[in-house]
Amino acid sequence: MAFQLIDGKKISLELQDEIAAEVQKLKAAGMKTPHLAAILVGNDGGSETYVASKIKACEKVGFKSTLIRLPEYVTEEKLLQTVHELNNDPDVDGFIVQLPLPRQINEHKIIEAVKPEKDVDGFHPINVGRMVLNLPCYVSATPYGIVHLLHKYNIETSGKHCVVIGRSHIVGSPMSILMAKNTSLGNSTVTLCHSKTENLKTHTRSADILICALGSPEFVTADMVKEGAVVIDVGTTRVASAETKSGFKLKGDVKFDEVAPKCSYITPVPGGVGPMTIASLLKNTLLAAKREVYP
Ligand code: GUN
Repeated sequence: MAFQLIDGKKISLELQDEIAAEVQKLKAAGMKTPHLAAILVGNDGGSETYVASKIKACEKVGFKSTLIRLPEYVTEEKLLQTVHELNNDPDVDGFIVQLPLPRQINEHKIIEAVKPEKDVDGFHPINVGRMVLNLPCYVSATPYGIVHLLHKYNIETSGKHCVVIGRSHIVGSPMSILMAKNTSLGNSTVTLCHSKTENLKTHTRSADILICALGSPEFVTADMVKEGAVVIDVGTTRVASAETKSGFKLKGDVKFDEVAPKCSYITPVPGGVGPMTIASLLKNTLLAAKREVYP
């Protein structure tokens, strides 16, 4: 079967162009420049790369950005203090605390300390709760990006069976909620699979839309996928590679070469979901700057 590649890089750049045009308009109207701040704790290679991409994207669309680096051994108290400073800085429209955090830090405590109005990651319980209830909120960036991709490629979700593998707070859980919503981009029948799911293959083989967000490289093989399925690969695991200058390669959760020929649509890694996460974060920051979610 001829499959169509879902080009997340292209759609992300289109979205970034739209955001850049709006920023120009805001500035021309004398409004302040949207400002995103990011807190990066420690030196995890993956987190360094993701945050650097977010900051670079800010520059590209004309946002102001601030990167706050804290050492790996930072205390919870110091991190909370930094969060409070950003909460109270009137120039900062939105900010993120890059996850994962070191062991001495209680992640939930930090997420709950972020003002919901500035929580452009959409991780705060208030934003998660408002998302569940269909109230205005910040939707977390990766699920938001995936919904946008499905929309851009005119992929029908209504009445379809959507199987999500992985129940993380960042992707799997919110994704399963969005796909089941009574909205034009939802209306799927959703099955949420995870590490305790029995007969996983039985579920995945019946998926019209399969969203793979478990973080296990090349876990999903051709025998797990229905002919004609839409496959969305959220995995971005760094694996050692002698072929690249950096010494590693990004691997998705899907064994692309054998799965792609069975699909109607599939996202590549890299260049699929990853770039959409960044575009969605920018979009949320623009909404924050315009006070459109929390006026
Ligand atoms: N770690 C992995 N994905 C994300 C994300 O979308 N936001 C933050 N803050 N941390 C992450």
